[in-house]
Amino acid sequence: MRIHTYEKLWLVAAFLLIVGFIATITYGSVGLGIQMIDDSEETLSPDDINDDERFGEPRVEQVGENEYEAYVVAQTFIFQPDPIEIPANSRVTFYVTSRDVIHGFDVVGTNTNTMVIPGEVSKMTVEFDEPDEYGIVCNEYCGDFHHTMEGQLNVVPEDEFDMTELEVEADDEVELGDEATVTITVENGALDDLETTATFEIGDQTVEEDITVPGQDSEEVTVTVDSTELGEGDHDWTVTVDDYEESGTLTVAEDLESEDEDGADGGDGSETDEDAEAGNDNE
Ligand code: CUA
Repeated sequence: MRIHTYEKLWLVAAFLLIVGFIATITYGSVGLGIQMIDDSEETLSPDDINDDERFGEPRVEQVGENEYEAYVVAQTFIFQPDPIEIPANSRVTFYVTSRDVIHGFDVVGTNTNTMVIPGEVSKMTVEFDEPDEYGIVCNEYCGDFHHTMEGQLNVVPEDEFDMTELEVEADDEVELGDEATVTITVENGALDDLETTATFEIGDQTVEEDITVPGQDSEEVTVTVDSTELGEGDHDWTVTVDDYEESGTLTVAEDLESEDEDGADGGDGSETDEDAEAGNDNE
Protein backbone atom coordinates (compact mmCIF):
# COMPACT_ATOMS: atom_id res chain seq x y z
CA MET A 1 0.00 0.00 0.00
CA ARG A 2 1.34 3.35 -0.94
CA ILE A 3 0.95 6.17 1.60
CA HIS A 4 1.32 9.72 0.51
CA THR A 5 4.30 11.56 2.08
CA TYR A 6 2.09 14.26 3.67
CA GLU A 7 -0.20 11.57 5.02
CA LYS A 8 2.85 9.96 6.69
CA LEU A 9 4.00 13.25 8.15
CA TRP A 10 0.56 13.94 9.66
CA LEU A 11 0.39 10.43 11.10
CA VAL A 12 3.76 10.93 12.82
CA ALA A 13 2.75 14.40 14.03
CA ALA A 14 -0.52 13.08 15.46
CA PHE A 15 1.32 10.22 17.16
CA LEU A 16 3.89 12.58 18.73
CA LEU A 17 1.07 14.84 19.92
CA ILE A 18 -0.63 11.93 21.68
CA VAL A 19 2.63 10.85 23.33
CA GLY A 20 3.18 14.49 24.35
CA PHE A 21 -0.27 14.72 25.96
CA ILE A 22 0.25 11.52 27.92
CA ALA A 23 3.69 12.72 29.06
CA THR A 24 2.33 16.07 30.31
CA ILE A 25 -0.51 14.41 32.19
CA THR A 26 1.87 11.88 33.77
CA TYR A 27 4.30 14.62 34.77
CA GLY A 28 1.50 16.75 36.21
CA SER A 29 0.10 13.96 38.33
CA VAL A 30 3.33 12.27 39.44
CA GLY A 31 6.32 14.51 38.74
CA LEU A 32 5.11 17.58 40.66
CA GLY A 33 4.43 15.59 43.80
CA ILE A 34 0.83 16.71 44.04
CA GLN A 35 -1.11 14.44 46.33
CA MET A 36 -4.79 14.00 46.64
CA ILE A 37 -6.30 14.03 50.10
CA ASP A 38 -7.52 10.55 50.77
CA ASP A 39 -9.27 8.90 53.66
CA SER A 40 -6.22 7.04 54.94
CA GLU A 41 -5.99 9.37 57.94
CA GLU A 42 -8.16 8.26 60.81
CA THR A 43 -11.46 10.07 61.16
CA LEU A 44 -12.28 12.46 63.98
CA SER A 45 -15.76 13.47 65.00
CA PRO A 46 -16.13 17.27 65.30
CA ASP A 47 -17.64 16.71 68.76
CA ASP A 48 -14.39 15.13 69.94
CA ILE A 49 -12.04 17.88 68.74
CA ASN A 50 -11.79 19.59 72.13
CA ASP A 51 -10.66 16.39 73.83
CA ASP A 52 -8.39 15.30 71.01
CA GLU A 53 -4.70 14.99 71.77
CA ARG A 54 -3.71 16.75 68.56
CA PHE A 55 -6.54 19.17 67.85
CA GLY A 56 -7.72 19.99 71.38
CA GLU A 57 -5.01 22.62 71.42
CA PRO A 58 -4.31 23.69 67.82
CA ARG A 59 -0.56 24.28 67.60
CA VAL A 60 2.78 23.65 65.96
CA GLU A 61 4.89 20.87 67.42
CA GLN A 62 8.50 19.97 66.74
CA VAL A 63 8.95 16.32 65.83
CA GLY A 64 12.49 16.25 64.41
CA GLU A 65 15.51 18.48 63.94
CA ASN A 66 13.89 20.43 61.11
CA GLU A 67 10.53 18.72 61.19
CA TYR A 68 7.33 20.11 62.53
CA GLU A 69 3.69 19.15 62.71
CA ALA A 70 0.92 21.73 62.62
CA TYR A 71 -2.49 20.80 63.98
CA VAL A 72 -4.98 23.22 62.49
CA VAL A 73 -8.69 23.54 63.16
CA ALA A 74 -10.94 25.35 60.68
CA GLN A 75 -14.32 26.61 61.78
CA THR A 76 -16.71 29.38 60.72
CA PHE A 77 -14.89 31.73 60.09
CA ILE A 78 -11.40 31.30 61.49
CA PHE A 79 -8.36 29.07 61.43
CA GLN A 80 -6.60 28.08 64.64
CA PRO A 81 -3.81 28.69 65.43
CA ASP A 82 -3.55 32.10 63.83
CA PRO A 83 -0.88 32.90 62.88
CA ILE A 84 0.81 29.57 62.32
CA GLU A 85 4.51 30.13 62.92
CA ILE A 86 7.28 27.88 61.67
CA PRO A 87 11.00 28.33 61.04
CA ALA A 88 12.55 28.58 57.58
CA ASN A 89 14.36 25.53 56.25
CA SER A 90 11.84 23.16 57.75
CA ARG A 91 9.49 20.41 56.72
CA VAL A 92 5.98 20.81 58.03
CA THR A 93 3.16 18.32 58.02
CA PHE A 94 -0.19 20.02 58.29
CA TYR A 95 -3.09 18.12 59.81
CA VAL A 96 -6.27 20.07 59.24
CA THR A 97 -9.79 19.27 60.39
CA SER A 98 -13.06 21.15 60.58
CA ARG A 99 -15.26 21.80 63.56
CA ASP A 100 -18.44 22.43 61.58
CA VAL A 101 -18.84 22.58 57.81
CA ILE A 102 -16.62 22.05 54.77
CA HIS A 103 -13.86 24.65 54.52
CA GLY A 104 -10.77 25.09 52.40
CA PHE A 105 -7.16 25.48 53.50
CA ASP A 106 -5.25 27.27 50.78
CA VAL A 107 -1.82 28.73 51.46
CA VAL A 108 -1.87 31.55 48.95
CA GLY A 109 0.86 31.46 46.33
CA THR A 110 1.78 27.81 46.98
CA ASN A 111 0.29 24.52 45.88
CA THR A 112 -0.67 23.76 49.48
CA ASN A 113 -4.39 23.61 49.09
CA THR A 114 -6.92 21.17 50.48
CA MET A 115 -10.54 20.73 51.31
CA VAL A 116 -11.23 20.47 55.02
CA ILE A 117 -14.09 18.13 55.73
CA PRO A 118 -15.68 17.73 59.16
CA GLY A 119 -14.86 14.26 60.45
CA GLU A 120 -11.82 13.90 58.20
CA VAL A 121 -8.22 14.91 58.76
CA SER A 122 -6.45 16.41 55.74
CA LYS A 123 -2.70 15.81 55.77
CA MET A 124 -0.07 17.60 53.71
CA THR A 125 3.70 17.78 54.03
CA VAL A 126 5.36 20.93 52.75
CA GLU A 127 8.93 22.24 52.79
CA PHE A 128 9.63 25.89 53.50
CA ASP A 129 13.16 27.02 52.65
CA GLU A 130 12.95 30.79 52.87
CA PRO A 131 11.40 33.15 55.43
CA ASP A 132 8.14 34.53 54.08
CA GLU A 133 4.61 35.45 55.05
CA TYR A 134 1.68 33.71 53.47
CA GLY A 135 -2.01 34.32 53.72
CA ILE A 136 -4.30 31.35 54.23
CA VAL A 137 -7.75 31.50 52.70
CA CYS A 138 -10.81 29.33 52.83
CA ASN A 139 -11.79 28.49 49.28
CA GLU A 140 -14.94 26.47 49.93
CA TYR A 141 -18.14 28.44 50.45
CA CYS A 142 -18.94 27.93 54.13
CA GLY A 143 -21.46 30.62 55.08
CA ASP A 144 -22.21 34.31 55.29
CA PHE A 145 -18.69 35.34 56.17
CA HIS A 146 -16.81 32.85 54.01
CA HIS A 147 -15.09 35.75 52.28
CA THR A 148 -13.62 36.95 55.60
CA MET A 149 -12.21 33.57 56.59
CA GLU A 150 -8.47 33.90 56.48
CA GLY A 151 -5.38 32.99 58.42
CA GLN A 152 -1.68 33.64 58.37
CA LEU A 153 1.37 31.43 57.96
CA ASN A 154 4.65 33.02 59.00
CA VAL A 155 7.88 31.36 58.02
CA VAL A 156 10.39 33.15 60.24
CA PRO A 157 14.20 33.07 60.03
CA GLU A 158 15.58 30.09 61.92
CA ASP A 159 17.43 32.18 64.50
CA GLU A 160 14.28 34.15 65.31
CA PHE A 161 12.18 31.08 65.86
CA ASP A 162 11.57 29.60 69.27
CA MET A 163 8.86 27.66 71.01
CA THR A 164 9.21 29.35 74.36
CA GLU A 165 6.29 30.48 76.48
CA LEU A 166 6.47 32.63 79.55
CA GLU A 167 3.88 32.73 82.30
CA VAL A 168 4.11 34.70 85.52
CA GLU A 169 1.99 34.47 88.62
CA ALA A 170 2.60 37.14 91.21
CA ASP A 171 1.00 38.47 94.38
CA ASP A 172 -1.03 41.64 93.80
CA GLU A 173 -0.49 43.00 97.26
CA VAL A 174 1.56 42.26 100.32
CA GLU A 175 1.79 43.64 103.84
CA LEU A 176 4.83 45.74 104.63
CA GLY A 177 7.45 43.43 106.13
CA ASP A 178 6.13 40.30 104.46
CA GLU A 179 7.57 38.60 101.42
CA ALA A 180 5.79 38.61 98.07
CA THR A 181 6.10 35.59 95.81
CA VAL A 182 6.51 35.59 92.07
CA THR A 183 6.31 32.30 90.18
CA ILE A 184 7.89 32.27 86.73
CA THR A 185 7.04 29.37 84.42
CA VAL A 186 9.01 28.89 81.22
CA GLU A 187 7.65 26.39 78.74
CA ASN A 188 9.93 24.94 76.07
CA GLY A 189 8.06 23.43 73.12
CA ALA A 190 11.24 22.61 71.19
CA LEU A 191 12.96 19.23 71.29
CA ASP A 192 16.31 20.64 72.45
CA ASP A 193 16.97 21.90 75.95
CA LEU A 194 16.56 25.62 76.45
CA GLU A 195 19.22 27.41 78.47
CA THR A 196 18.17 30.88 79.41
CA THR A 197 18.01 33.45 82.16
CA ALA A 198 14.90 34.75 83.84
CA THR A 199 15.29 38.33 85.02
CA PHE A 200 12.92 39.78 87.59
CA GLU A 201 13.02 43.49 88.27
CA ILE A 202 11.15 45.51 90.87
CA GLY A 203 12.18 48.90 92.24
CA ASP A 204 15.96 48.78 92.60
CA GLN A 205 15.98 45.03 93.00
CA THR A 206 17.02 42.68 90.22
CA VAL A 207 16.98 38.93 90.51
CA GLU A 208 18.53 36.78 87.81
CA GLU A 209 18.02 33.06 87.67
CA ASP A 210 19.69 30.77 85.14
CA ILE A 211 17.32 28.05 84.08
CA THR A 212 17.54 25.00 81.88
CA VAL A 213 14.25 23.82 80.48
CA PRO A 214 14.34 20.29 79.05
CA GLY A 215 12.85 19.79 75.59
CA GLN A 216 9.05 19.78 75.46
CA ASP A 217 8.83 20.46 79.15
CA SER A 218 8.52 23.41 81.51
CA GLU A 219 10.45 24.78 84.44
CA GLU A 220 9.29 26.86 87.37
CA VAL A 221 11.27 29.44 89.31
CA THR A 222 10.02 31.18 92.42
CA VAL A 223 11.35 34.57 93.41
CA THR A 224 10.63 36.18 96.76
CA VAL A 225 10.53 39.92 97.19
CA ASP A 226 11.33 41.71 100.42
CA SER A 227 8.62 44.33 100.82
CA THR A 228 10.50 46.27 103.54
CA GLU A 229 13.13 47.22 101.02
CA LEU A 230 10.47 48.41 98.58
CA GLY A 231 8.47 50.42 101.06
CA GLU A 232 4.82 51.29 100.98
CA GLY A 233 3.10 51.98 97.66
CA ASP A 234 2.69 50.52 94.16
CA HIS A 235 5.72 48.94 92.55
CA ASP A 236 5.87 47.93 88.90
CA TRP A 237 7.70 44.74 88.09
CA THR A 238 8.84 43.01 84.93
CA VAL A 239 9.95 39.49 84.16
CA THR A 240 12.12 39.01 81.08
CA VAL A 241 13.07 35.71 79.47
CA ASP A 242 14.80 36.09 76.10
CA ASP A 243 12.42 38.19 73.99
CA TYR A 244 9.46 37.63 76.26
CA GLU A 245 8.30 40.04 78.90
CA GLU A 246 5.54 40.04 81.48
CA SER A 247 4.80 42.87 83.83
CA GLY A 248 2.52 43.86 86.68
CA THR A 249 2.23 45.87 89.86
CA LEU A 250 2.78 44.88 93.45
CA THR A 251 1.10 46.94 96.15
CA VAL A 252 2.83 47.10 99.48
CA ALA A 253 0.45 48.24 102.21
CA GLU A 254 1.28 48.93 105.82
CA ASP A 255 -1.74 47.16 107.20
CA LEU A 256 -3.30 44.83 104.72
CA GLU A 257 -5.55 43.10 107.21
CA SER A 258 -7.52 46.20 108.09
CA GLU A 259 -8.12 46.71 104.36
CA ASP A 260 -9.35 43.15 104.16
CA GLU A 261 -11.67 43.80 107.06
CA ASP A 262 -13.04 46.80 105.24
CA GLY A 263 -13.53 44.51 102.31
CA ALA A 264 -15.62 42.17 104.40
CA ASP A 265 -18.07 44.98 105.01
CA GLY A 266 -19.21 44.73 101.45
CA GLY A 267 -19.24 47.84 99.25
CA ASP A 268 -15.68 48.92 100.03
CA GLY A 269 -14.33 45.50 99.24
CA SER A 270 -15.55 45.41 95.68
CA GLU A 271 -14.17 48.89 95.14
CA THR A 272 -10.79 47.76 96.40
CA ASP A 273 -10.92 44.80 94.03
CA GLU A 274 -11.82 47.00 91.13
CA ASP A 275 -8.98 49.36 91.97
CA ALA A 276 -6.57 46.47 92.03
CA GLU A 277 -7.80 45.15 88.69
CA ALA A 278 -7.70 48.58 87.08
CA GLY A 279 -4.13 48.91 88.25
CA ASN A 280 -3.23 45.66 86.49
CA ASP A 281 -4.98 46.60 83.31
CA ASN A 282 -2.92 49.72 83.03
CA GLU A 283 0.22 47.66 82.72
CU1 CUA B 1 -14.59 28.54 55.55
CU2 CUA B 1 -15.24 29.40 53.47
